[in-house]
Amino acid sequence: MALSLLSPLLFTTFFVMQTLAETSTFTHSRAAYYPNSDEKGTDSGACGFGSFGATVNGGDVSAASDLYRSGVGCGACYQVRCTNSAYCSDKGATVVITDQGSSANTDFILSRRAFSRMAQTTDTATYLLALGVVDIEYRRVSCSYPNKNITIKIDENSNYPHYFAFVIWFQQGKKDITAVQLCETQNFVCKLLDRSYGAVWTTTSPPSGPLSIRMLFSDDDEDESWVVPVNNIPQDWKAGDIYDTGVQVN
Ligand SMILES: *[C@@H]1O[C@H](CO)[C@@H](O)[C@H](O)[C@H]1NC(C)=O
Repeated sequence: MALSLLSPLLFTTFFVMQTLAETSTFTHSRAAYYPNSDEKGTDSGACGFGSFGATVNGGDVSAASDLYRSGVGCGACYQVRCTNSAYCSDKGATVVITDQGSSANTDFILSRRAFSRMAQTTDTATYLLALGVVDIEYRRVSCSYPNKNITIKIDENSNYPHYFAFVIWFQQGKKDITAVQLCETQNFVCKLLDRSYGAVWTTTSPPSGPLSIRMLFSDDDEDESWVVPVNNIPQDWKAGDIYDTGVQVN
């Protein structure tokens, strides 16, 4: 008797808790889209990713307002879905942060393509685009780049051998890169790099010889771990060059 009274209650409690757990992971906000006619993002995003920042993830990218976090948020992935059930899909769009910006109390300015993807159909996408700004909910999700390793792109503004600047591409998972060290591979002397802006890490007078980069990954619980690439950056590195680190994270 006691059991049969109790179990529906337990079941209900469990169900309510589950529902809370799921909905609490989404945060309500608003999203707009880039006013340019381009479907994708912008080549000149505040993260410093260049054309990668416009086209990565098929062009499903976004500028973030507070979530930009002084550049720490660059490369983070979010599931963003609009909330009008007549027009919006459950899944919404998964975007990568490649720029900073806000308009009309938005947390996200999506690429036109990502904004359209929040709709159920092409017709409802036209309707959403006409609205311009919509209510959304979002949550951070893991980034996924199948068959890609973390990749170093030497920034175009680098000047061998005096000024070394680079961005980090294709970081999977949902951790932040909060520090980067540059090490000499011969005597293992490392120095901490500066975040110049966005996802751009720099140093003047880098050591000579092949270089190795270490990245500090931090998660929500403030667990931290250094990741050391398999591959070094050759000593004759050049502005614009792209190097596969040989490692990936999840
Ligand atoms: C990733 O790095 C590993 C070595 O650690 C290499 O074998 C593999 O080919 C790389 N993958 C890609 C897609 O470049």
